[in-house]
Amino acid sequence: MTKLLMRALAGETLAVPPIWMMRQAGRYLPEYRATRAQAGDFLKLCYNSDLAAEVTLQPIRRYGFDAAILFADILLLPQALGADLWFETGEGPRLSTITGPEGLRALKGKDDIHDTLAPIYETVRILARELPKETALIGFAGAPWTVATYMIAGRGTPDQGPAHGLKAADRATFSALIDRITEATVEYLSMQILAGAETVKLFDSWAGSLKGQDFEDFAVAPAQKIILALKARHPGVPIIAFPREAAAGYVGFAKKTGADCVAVDNSVSPEWAAAEVQADGCVQGNLAPEHMVTGGQALVEATRRVVDAFAKGPHIFNLGHGITPDADPDNVQLMIDTVRSGH
Ligand code: CP3
Repeated sequence: MTKLLMRALAGETLAVPPIWMMRQAGRYLPEYRATRAQAGDFLKLCYNSDLAAEVTLQPIRRYGFDAAILFADILLLPQALGADLWFETGEGPRLSTITGPEGLRALKGKDDIHDTLAPIYETVRILARELPKETALIGFAGAPWTVATYMIAGRGTPDQGPAHGLKAADRATFSALIDRITEATVEYLSMQILAGAETVKLFDSWAGSLKGQDFEDFAVAPAQKIILALKARHPGVPIIAFPREAAAGYVGFAKKTGADCVAVDNSVSPEWAAAEVQADGCVQGNLAPEHMVTGGQALVEATRRVVDAFAKGPHIFNLGHGITPDADPDNVQLMIDTVRSGH
């Protein structure tokens, strides 16, 4: 029988929605922390195919999620394009910065990324072999705008100021950077699919800061290009898009880009998303990740509300953003039990 996640992505309304969580392999799990320590650090873990496959499998073994997401990071692609990348403990990612045309010229081409990324494809191959037969395998990449915000600023930024600055000051360089990331992302995701990913997700974590025409040009258009190219090469492989905090931009996003599923964050209500987004197809989301920290009856009620709101159409149950390191693993189990109990 076809995997639940693939059925929801194909547009089927299911009695109980498939479940997975963004960042499901992560620091809230003691077994993840142990394997990361064994690997040395986060980046070494990403590039160690056996250990990356191991941490991908950990939440599947513990909870029996309906999908596993490849363990890697959206910033490995900039690294493969030639950026320096490191992680400052307790602070987050740091990269070399692109501030003008010379930075763009120094980048490698879209076909030169695979030496660096080969261990990621190997992780996918291991997972395709080792996952339980009912568990779907999700590959992923960052969307061009979100990746560009890190490549331009060299770090995470609260308002994506440096990227907006380059867009305003030197639109040609900015657009060319978006195009370079777009082309490389097609190659990267294509290789993940060839290695065994059954669906892929595009994370546009900072889509919410693109307004008006910028949203169309730098969130919608690149997603559409990537999806068109992947559909041409891999017909039948469904694609999930996550234009986080897009608000009204969620409406029509699936139609405009060709995405099979739109993931929604928890800044929109599930009732609104059911009416405005699920009308076009599968929706993924959108329980607030804070419930994984606070638990209790509030978690149960909020989980039921999400399940009920999306019950009349295709739905993949997920959080509205990644689970945080301070989450309690028992709360994850309570969420899963609540979804599957069908109350
Ligand atoms: O979801 C999963 O379990 C799959 C693996 C995955 C990671 N990052 C592992 C990770 C995925 C899909 C990502 C995506 C990612 N990475 C995004 C888009 C989604 C989002 O969260 O908005 C972004 C913006 C990044 C970049 C990134 N990676 C940042 C900003 C950070 C530091 C912040 C943080 O949470 O610590 C990371 C590190 C990172 N990526 C961790 C994990 C498990 C924590 C690293 C650690 O173990 O120390």
